[in-house]
This record gives sequence, C-alpha cells and structure tokens, in this order.
Amino acid sequence: MNTVHSFHRGGADVAQAERAREAAVEAALARLDLDTKARLLSGQDRWSLPGIPEIGLKSLVMSDGPIGVRGVRWSADDPSIALPSPTALAATWDQDLARRAGTLLAQEARRKGVHVLLAPTVNLHRSPLGGRHFEAYSEDPYLTGVIGAGYVEGVQSGGVGTTVKHFVANDAETDRFTVNNVISERALREVYLAPFEAIVENAHPWGIMTAYNAVNGTTMSEHRYLVNEVLRGEWGFDGINVSDWTAARSTKGAIEGGLDVAMPGPQTVYGPALADAVRAGEVERAEVDKAVRNVLRLAARVGILEDAEPVVTHVPGEIDGEALAREIARRAFVLVRNEDGALPLRPGKVALIGAAARDARVMGGGSATVFPTRIVSPLDGLAAVLPEGALSYAVGADPRTELTVADQGFELHAVCRDADGAVIGTCGVPNGQIHWTDSDLPDGVTPDRLHSVELTGTFTPRDTGPHTFGIKGAGAFVLAIDGTTYYEDVQLRDEDDPFSGFFSAPVPRGQAELTAGEAIEVSLVHVVDEVPADDITFTLAHQEPLRDPDELIAEAVDAARAADTAVVVVATTDRVESEGYDRTDLHLPGRQNDLVSAVAAANPNTVVIVNSGAPVELPWRDEVAAVLLSWFAGQECGAALADVLTGAHEPGGRLPTTWGSFADAPVTQVVPESGELPYAEGVFIGYRAWEREGRSPAYAFGHGLGYTDWTYESVTSDGTTATVRLRNSGERAGREVVQVYLAPGQPDTERPTRWLVAFAGVEAGPGESVEVTVGLPRRAFEVWDEGNNTWSFAKGSYEIEVGRSIADRRVRTTVNV
Ligand code: BGC
Repeated sequence: MNTVHSFHRGGADVAQAERAREAAVEAALARLDLDTKARLLSGQDRWSLPGIPEIGLKSLVMSDGPIGVRGVRWSADDPSIALPSPTALAATWDQDLARRAGTLLAQEARRKGVHVLLAPTVNLHRSPLGGRHFEAYSEDPYLTGVIGAGYVEGVQSGGVGTTVKHFVANDAETDRFTVNNVISERALREVYLAPFEAIVENAHPWGIMTAYNAVNGTTMSEHRYLVNEVLRGEWGFDGINVSDWTAARSTKGAIEGGLDVAMPGPQTVYGPALADAVRAGEVERAEVDKAVRNVLRLAARVGILEDAEPVVTHVPGEIDGEALAREIARRAFVLVRNEDGALPLRPGKVALIGAAARDARVMGGGSATVFPTRIVSPLDGLAAVLPEGALSYAVGADPRTELTVADQGFELHAVCRDADGAVIGTCGVPNGQIHWTDSDLPDGVTPDRLHSVELTGTFTPRDTGPHTFGIKGAGAFVLAIDGTTYYEDVQLRDEDDPFSGFFSAPVPRGQAELTAGEAIEVSLVHVVDEVPADDITFTLAHQEPLRDPDELIAEAVDAARAADTAVVVVATTDRVESEGYDRTDLHLPGRQNDLVSAVAAANPNTVVIVNSGAPVELPWRDEVAAVLLSWFAGQECGAALADVLTGAHEPGGRLPTTWGSFADAPVTQVVPESGELPYAEGVFIGYRAWEREGRSPAYAFGHGLGYTDWTYESVTSDGTTATVRLRNSGERAGREVVQVYLAPGQPDTERPTRWLVAFAGVEAGPGESVEVTVGLPRRAFEVWDEGNNTWSFAKGSYEIEVGRSIADRRVRTTVNV
C-alpha cells in the first residue's frame, strides 16, 4: 500500500513541507490566549470550528460522509453525489476503487467548502443485528483496514481530511450513548483496533472520531489509554481527535483523555468551561496546547492556516461522479446464486416486481444521509435498456409497514414565521423531513425571530384510496390535509435520546380519502420553542393506501407467469436498518418472503435482487434461479443493475460478511445488561465464529459469482509472499478476487481455524492464465500476548489456502515460519 501524502512531490520535499507546517503551527499557537484556545476546541455551531482572523485561521468545516458530502445543510438545495454504501464498497474488495471513491468525495468536499469528511466508519460487523452495518465495511478487520485505508488515501489525496470512526467498538446501536463494551485486550488488538491501526499506519489519517460508547469502563471520549497510549503513543497518530456528536461528557476527563475537539458547538464541555478549569488549576495548560496544536496542524494540512502550505497543492483531475457511482455499484453487486446461467437475462419479457424496484432504497438512514440530484431506480434502469413492451411492473409486496418520510408525489417547501404570523423566510425542502440547526435557517430568518415552521405544498397521489399522514418529532404541531385539520397538539420528547426527533417512529395522525393524480394541499406547522438550543427536527410522514397483501401477491404472480423472467426486488426499510437502533431479527419485512415463494412457483426463471445493507434471511433461496445482493447501491443503483442484468458487465462483488440465518448466527447479543455488553466471544466474530461452531451459513464470507469460471492452478509461498496462478476457464472476460487465507498447521482452539491475510483482483480473457503475487503481512502470523501486553510472532507451520471464498479454497501450500 502506498501512502499518499501529496501529489508531485518527493520524500525530502514532503518532510520539509511538514517541518514548515509544524513551524507555522507553533507560531500560530504562540499567538493565542487561553480563552481563544478553549473556544477553538469547541465547535462554533453544528459543523464548524471558529475562525480566528488574528492568526490567519479560517473556520474549519466538517461534513458527514461516508457515501457523499452532505455539507452543512440538511437540504436538497445543496445536493451531493450518493455513492453505494460502505458494505457495498467493501464488497468490491478493491482498494483502488475505494481510493477513487475517496478522491471523488474530496472533489465534492472542495466544491462545498468542506475541509474534513466525518468518515470512514470502520467498526466491525460483530453481530448481524447491528442496525448501522450498512455504514461499516465488513466483519473482517483486514478487509476493513484495506478498504478504509484506500478511502482515506483517496479523500486526503484531494486535500480534504478524514476522521476514521468510531474509535472504538461502536459495533451496535442499542444504548449507544452509554453502553460499556467489555472486551479483552486480545480481541481489541486483533479485531476491533486492527482496522484503525492499519489505516493509521498505511494511510496516515488526519483525524479520528471517538465513539459514544465506553470500553472496559471508560467512555471513549475520555479514554487516555486507548487514545493517548495506543493510538498516539504506539501507532504515532498525529491527527485530530474529534468527539462523536454530543459524546464529550466532562471537561477534565475529555482533555486528559486526548479529545481535541468537542462537537457540536457552541455549548460543549470545552470553550469557557475549559478555560475556567485551567484557571482553577484542574487542567494543565499543556493539555490545552496539545489539543490546539492538533487542530492547527489539521488546519495547516487542509490549507486554512495562513503561511502554512497545504499538504496537497495540486488537486487530482476531475472525476465523473455519476459514472463512478455506477461503476462501484456494479462492482459491488454480489451474485450469490446463478443456476443454469439464469443471469445475464435471456431475451424476452421481464416482470419486475417489488416496491423497492420503483422506490429504490439507495442509502441507509441517519447521519449518513445525503441528497443526490437524482436516483435511478431499478424500474428506471431496466426501462432504459429493455426493448419497448418487454418490461412490466407490479408492487407485489410493500415492506414499508409504517409511515415513511413524505417523498414520492410531494412538492414541499418550508415557510418560516415570526410570533405575529408574518413570513420571515421560505426555502425548498428535499422531502418531508426538516433537520435544521440555526445555520440551516432560510435567508433572513434569525433564531430569535423564528416562531414557527410550516412544511407545506401539494401531494399528488399515485393510488386512489385512504392515505395516512403522520408526524415524527417532539413539540407542538398542526397537521392539515386538503383543508381539514387532523391534529393540533403536542408530541412529547424522549428525554434519553438527543436524536429521538430523527430516529423515533412516526405517529399516524390522520387519514384522507384521495384520488390518484389529483393534487391536494398539505400543511404541517411546527411551533419552534428553543433555537438554537435545540435543532429543528420534525417529519411529515405518509403511507399509501394499504392494499390487500394477497391481492398484491396474486397480481405479481400473474405478471410473473406472463413473462420469461421474473425479477423481484426485496428490501429492508429505514425502520429496519438505520443508525440509532439495532435489528431484532433478520427477516425481510412485510410479506416479501411469501411474494418470492409465490413468484418462484409461478416462474422457474425468477431472479431476486436483495436491496439491503446487511444480511437478511432468504428462506426461498433454493427455490429461485438467481440471487443478487445489491446492497444500498447509491444514486445510480438502477443503471448499474441494468448493466449487470443485461450482461453488459459482470457483477463484481464478493461477500464482506457472512450471510446466514439468525438461529445459526454465533454472535447475536447487542442489548447490554445493566449497561454492559460483554464481547464474550473474544476474537471469534464473523466467519471465525461460524467456523469454530462448525456451522454452514447460507453464503460464506468471500463468496460471489461472476459471469465466467476460474480454475486455480497453483500457489507457492516463502512465508512472506504468495504467488497464485489461475486461469479464466469460462467463456467471457472477467475479474476474480483471489483470496488468501492462513490456517495454523496445528489446530489451536485459541486461534481461528483460518483468517484472511491477503487478496488481489485479477482480470483475464477466456482461456487466459494469470499470475499474481501478494504480500503476507507479518501481523497475519502474530497473536496478542495478554501476559506481556505485546504482539508475539507465532512460529510454526501454516497452510496458505487460496480460493474463491473461505468455504471454497482451491489450492494450498505449507510454510514454516
Ligand atoms: C454519528 C456520527 C456522525 C455525527 C454527525 C453521530 O450521531 O454517530 O457518525 O458523524 O452524528 O452527524
């Protein structure tokens, strides 16, 4: 792996530039007084740090990733590219593609005036129940580290910083603000810290974000041992440590625990509280200086500190975002089953079925949300490439069992009024969700004058029947549909969750009988009580008329019967997979399983597309001809799907995480008991656990088919590299992900049976052979010695096993190290 520190520069130049930046940082630091330093360490608002003109420091702006750059506004007026979600990026097993994704995101960040991207998320898929898995890469620390390093290198090659997050062990969402994860040092080192360590070593991130949770009794925004000793001390991390949003809990604990910046501002444990603590002798001035130095260094790196040359002086060439989003999506799709070459599609009629085929779920919910300029649904994508008359569509089953954010058919804007009812500002909104801080307020609107926000406009239904409308959020609301007021009251707040307005369930508040195609007026007024102390977060929610589920399935079956191929898109919803909560099972919501079984019974040529960010159970998987996992595939989802279904491209993905049933999943506990979540399984998560239990999942880690075949011919190894020969034995050109696993020669119950140590993508035409050599990292042979608190190289004999997945190993050789 190459470390990208800058473009067009040699090592000596880089070192000299770094020295110059350090000198500029020290000079700036020397000119700051205590109060200004303390203020700098506390956000000035939700997304930025204060600028300090006296020392030539501009305001540093951060934005959420990881699939795009939302910017500082929760608004479709400020759109961003929406790339496939992180599980999809990891499914490409391609560090270079991750690097290109990062480079594109840097371009987006620069366009939007953002200096630091709050990404990537490199927590692990410890249990399949984790609600936020779509936003993390994999169950495997090595794969996570490789993809994460590529991403960081890419973003930073464009002169934009990253904060690798959430350090560490934010692997589930239940009680995420308070949970104490109890983890052995060995599991921490070998599993949970490993991706962070690899990224620090190989990609030199300029930032890290500490998690909400505690590890072994200490909250991560105050974890001196893991932050100051391990991350900074042992690994040499020299970037900024920013808290997760609202995670900083105490002034002294945070500053002494190595936390540089408490976000969001302006009211945090830093600022005046920090200056006072120094004056009271509770906190050393030197601690404050260390943190300020880290902030100034970051500012210098991204080019917002006068007299300091940024790391990147020549930005990479322009990237076509839509084309890259499409390329990553098709390279991420994992074809897990393809009987008798069901895919690519044969010529003939296609019945496309499923609510998500029309309303595609292209990203996961929560802070990872961005607003793209367009979304290509599977229906749009296939309609664009299939001949006229070849495509039919039926809903079949709708997984949305609750109201969702008002979107399809709504044309909305926001109107802000003062206490006298006078309009003080208006703006467009992306959908029925408002999520504003004072910096999002429309032009001319000030927090002190703002009294109410009205979300208003028209709704043109797709279907005739009873439409349900509802509200998510706390406070006073008035809901009127087509001139009738349905609700005028106060919804209460969940005091335990600062983001409940965002993550709670929408409450149905009225039902109106509407006619397809006939626009009606809608209005939801929210009286704002405290700004900016509180964000303005509320949602107008909607649900289409509920049709008889059996009728919907029957309609889809008829469509499938009349077609040569049935393509069924099944999906999770944002109430199943999201930041903010975990899952309780791995079922597809609603009647989707019944739908697939019924369609498969009617048409043996049934292809199922699984639109989820993380594993779901596929009880019908042996009844259908093909299964393609599409993940949350980003804005170009449907176009990429058309590329692979028609065979213009092969699906390129391999599973970054084991897919199996909940009943068989070895690690399922995500709910803490008395505030504690024991990681009792130690290093045995993911495939390590499945293998130890001797259980076979539905689809093994690393599995994924293309449109050609591969014959593995040989592997040789001297213990530091492995050289693999393989041949494309199929009929078309293709790409294979060669996976190298290491298995101790002598079974050792303390260690996994085998683990991923290297991989490489190779391409070859039909009949062609190809040879690839990969490095075997020393760390792959090491175990964490708890007694001596250090790494220990485990000498002995090992099998190097190479193949198509952890369950499909084709060639092997023995090494003694
Ligand atoms: C999330 C972070 C995110 C931050 C800012 C938090 O709730 O955990 O990943 O960067 O909010 O939106």
